[in-house]
Amino acid sequence: MQRIFAYLNYRVPRTRKEIFETLVKGLQRLEYRGYDSAGIAVDGPSKTTSDQNNNSICLIKKTGKVKALDEELYKKDSLNLDEELCTHFGIAHTRWATHGEPSALNSHPQRSDKDNGKIYSQSIYGILIESKSLKNKSMYHFESETDTEVIPKLIKYIYDNRENDSITFSKLVERVIKQLEGAFALVFKSRHFPGEAVATRRGSPMVIGVRSEHELLTEHIPVQYNSGELYSSFTDSSSNINSVGDGRAVEFYFASDASAIIEHTNKVLYMEDDDIAVVTGGKLSIHRMNRQAGEDPVRAIMTLQMELQQIMKGNFDAFMQKEIFEQPESVVNTMRGRLTFLPSVLSVVLGGLKDHLKEIKRCRRLIMIGCGTSFHAAVATRQILEELTELPVMVELASDFLDRITPVFRDDVCFFISQSGETADTLMALRYCKDRGALTVGVTNTVGSSICRETDCGVHINAGPEIGVASTKAYTSQFVSLIMFGLMMSEDRLSLQKRREEIINSLKMLPELIKKVLSLDEKIKAIANELYQQRSLLVMGRGFNYATCLEGALKIKEITYMHSEGILAGELKHGPLALVDKHMPVIMIIMRDACYTKCQNALQQVTARSGRPIIICCQDDTELTKNAYQTIELPQTVDCLQGILSVIPLQLMSFHLAVLRGYDVSIQHNCSSCSLLTTVQTDFICQNCELFIYSP
Ligand code: F6R
Repeated sequence: MQRIFAYLNYRVPRTRKEIFETLVKGLQRLEYRGYDSAGIAVDGPSKTTSDQNNNSICLIKKTGKVKALDEELYKKDSLNLDEELCTHFGIAHTRWATHGEPSALNSHPQRSDKDNGKIYSQSIYGILIESKSLKNKSMYHFESETDTEVIPKLIKYIYDNRENDSITFSKLVERVIKQLEGAFALVFKSRHFPGEAVATRRGSPMVIGVRSEHELLTEHIPVQYNSGELYSSFTDSSSNINSVGDGRAVEFYFASDASAIIEHTNKVLYMEDDDIAVVTGGKLSIHRMNRQAGEDPVRAIMTLQMELQQIMKGNFDAFMQKEIFEQPESVVNTMRGRLTFLPSVLSVVLGGLKDHLKEIKRCRRLIMIGCGTSFHAAVATRQILEELTELPVMVELASDFLDRITPVFRDDVCFFISQSGETADTLMALRYCKDRGALTVGVTNTVGSSICRETDCGVHINAGPEIGVASTKAYTSQFVSLIMFGLMMSEDRLSLQKRREEIINSLKMLPELIKKVLSLDEKIKAIANELYQQRSLLVMGRGFNYATCLEGALKIKEITYMHSEGILAGELKHGPLALVDKHMPVIMIIMRDACYTKCQNALQQVTARSGRPIIICCQDDTELTKNAYQTIELPQTVDCLQGILSVIPLQLMSFHLAVLRGYDVSIQHNCSSCSLLTTVQTDFICQNCELFIYSP
């Protein structure tokens, strides 16, 4: 989730303030990927001496939002904001903690020396699996808990042991990346190479934007290989030109994706794995160690025709659709660094809860509180939490919980589940429980939100920002987070070890299974095509899949403006059956679990009234398929995780129904009060500030 933005102005005078603004704006464009801290590195105050090596680099880092970093930048009295820097390279970074907690020290950029006078700053994201023997080699003091810090330390080591002073910046970087394994993207800035930039990547993306008032002499850069080979059979008349920029005024932007660049320029170059991009003297060139067979020896500057919104949405028609398809990745991010999948170690550590675990274990009940989808995540996990914690678990809609003036005691533990971390009812319920002395736990997706700040402890679900108004990936990540909480609570219960093992192994398989469910999209679209003109849609199930019915029906209502109801199959005969006839579409969720036979009974009741059930079931369930009007067959997982798979067809269904019914799911509005970006088709009350009502 880490993101990079860097900006080099060459012979384009910019004040330090303008440079700060460009860097901060770049980070803000990348905020949608999520992060917990941010930092920048820029040149410090100029020295009067002619020795350029006396230049210092100023590193400013802050936990929390980019906004907090922005405020911090202007507190530095030593920096003259109006100073004009004709040529300058500044780097900026957001970080999502994986190695080491979110803190200013751990946030990026990381540096080689504490002494600002001698600094190599760099940035990385991706998973650095191993940096061969770096720590052993380095005699340098490590100040952070990050794996990243070995990189600036290593480049310093190589620089200090250089064979001669003619070594180039790119050569140093080349030697560093030879030692690295895993995925990364890096930009380097050094006081030894002022005004120069080096960037490289492997496995993580990096794009470079070029802006110049002059026409570029070439839009194709031949790669320069270490062997000295410069691929020159390129047939363009400008084949002799091996860099972009000709020493005249030019600006370069380096970013993790084009969304941070597009407002400055639409001329971009996408770097390939192991490319080393170097800007020196205002010229951009690309270097590689050796040429591999079949490798393209030229990098093209492309002209992007896309708008910002389009870039952020990728190949998807709407953010909601993009977020549904992100779920194989978002659930991994929820589990990353918290679950150990080794057969001998069944450990789950939620860092934000570990200091409170004893207290939680001593409590007399757990109360799970949320609104809408977040409430459904509590309903979905209630049964497994009761089983794993052996505690009574209450699930509460925040508004109703407050209306009832529900009794809460000091020995209760209250969970506040919220994607945004700002929902007013949930926040009020939190304050209500705090006043009564209960331990409060936040389960949120938004670092620094009110619920994060006001709870005693908590879990970040790490799903990445959800821009689509219909919550999708946050639901599955809340689900996984609550299951992990149950697993953490049951670590020392001998009788539960087999069950825990089954769940942990199934969590490991989850991303692959989600991908399989997503591959049913075309089939689901075809079913939506048959349903979109209906007035109503019922969704039925029970046990572990009851929450899926509630959540599926909510998605359908919210996005398609079609009536939909989630019905507990056990309640069918107590009234709702009256709704079923040959015209009423009924989606039934019948998975192979303890409720299977009971669900089959419900199916019989539906077919007896000539209902036409669309059944979401496990693969190859021939018994069910013969009674179904349509089936959506899903891979099977452990009962308590099945709801993660069974909700996805309903997320997709609601999206397709909305599109077919003519609603533009991708309409975006910024709340005029708090600027929260949201996706709505009609009037809305901002989820964040609850003040602004928009009428499109
Ligand atoms: C449904 C949806 C809402 C939210 C609810 C709570 O798609 O998005 O029901 O789940 O407004 O919001 P958070 O989770 O931000 O507290």
